[in-house]
Amino acid sequence: MFAVYADQFSKDDPLSALQVGERPDPDVPDGWTTVTVKAASLNHHDLFSLRGVGLREEALPMILGCDAAGLDEDGNEVVVHAVISDPSWTGDETFDPKRSLLSERHQGTFADQVAVPRRNVVPKPASLSFEEAACLPTAWLTAYRMLFTRGELRAGETVLVQGAGGGVATAAIVLGRAAGLRVLVTSRDEAKRARALELGAHDAFESGARLPMKVDAVIETVGRATWSHSIRSLRPGGRIVTSGTTSGPNLDDAELTRIFFLQLSVIGSTMGTRDELAGLVSMLDATGARPLVDRTLPMTEARDGFAAMLGGEQFGKIVFTR
Ligand SMILES: NC(=O)c1ccc[n+]([C@@H]2O[C@H](COP(=O)([O-])OP(=O)(O)OC[C@H]3O[C@@H](n4cnc5c(N)ncnc54)[C@H](OP(=O)(O)O)[C@@H]3O)[C@@H](O)[C@H]2O)c1
Repeated sequence: MFAVYADQFSKDDPLSALQVGERPDPDVPDGWTTVTVKAASLNHHDLFSLRGVGLREEALPMILGCDAAGLDEDGNEVVVHAVISDPSWTGDETFDPKRSLLSERHQGTFADQVAVPRRNVVPKPASLSFEEAACLPTAWLTAYRMLFTRGELRAGETVLVQGAGGGVATAAIVLGRAAGLRVLVTSRDEAKRARALELGAHDAFESGARLPMKVDAVIETVGRATWSHSIRSLRPGGRIVTSGTTSGPNLDDAELTRIFFLQLSVIGSTMGTRDELAGLVSMLDATGARPLVDRTLPMTEARDGFAAMLGGEQFGKIVFTR
């Protein structure tokens, strides 16, 4: 079958490790099913894989891609959940120490077909296109869990989203607004601040600027560059939900004094569960909120999509179609 895959790693020139061609049809273990891929979307994770981060040499060649939407074996429209837990695991799969993401241990979604555990298939409502649905399983699911499960944000509360241009951040803006939150954002870039306002943010500020009000929670994926500002922006008893460190994980000042004195909560969050993905899909169906698609390319032109992400050209998701 047609597939986009890695057969080597290159730290410095990830595109040189990218292959577009033919791979064998998927192996389908007991309890698994195949999905015929109609659309799949690109993540930083796929570029990391080409650099050899999070992927073992023994696993090569590996079909890339975590996110997909397509048709199940009965022709139903579905979204693929990317977190694969151990068959013996029960409960929240993000807590399974043996979990992996599609394209780490099991072949990924940039192909004609992908095999997944039966449980990892979520019905897609007709109101969402395959392209829109394919944007949801990683960045959007991460934002959903950060806001509503780990952050426990409720309509009427105020949230600060740091780094407005990021994949998780843009999802948090759209979902936060759709859920009745007051959404404040920061970005270093004026054009990105303007785009964030178009997406639904109530107010946009330069990174590090003093805010006119204290917030109930911060959605933090930037790390070192914004951590201190995030802590200083919280009301007493507020919470900071962190899922990433784009600018680096090592802090100049962890602001421990403020954390204990103002009784702040620091909450880690990673990916999401199958049921949260079903909740996210249902929320988009009910509210009309939609993921932001930067561009759609045929999967045969995947290399152009990878190059655009490498150059930091996109605002929103890059989607491949079959
Ligand atoms: N734990 C999980 O499940 C999970 C899932 C998805 C992603 N992640 C992680 O989350 C992070 C964000 O990923 P992403 O793809 O959403 O976004 P991203 O493209 O990595 O960028 C996030 C934002 O960080 C801001 N930024 C970068 N360097 C900065 C600096 N020096 N100072 C201030 N702001 C800076 C930029 O905002 P502006 O340009 O607007 O200022 C950028 O838009 C990554 O670390 C990723 O690995 C984790």
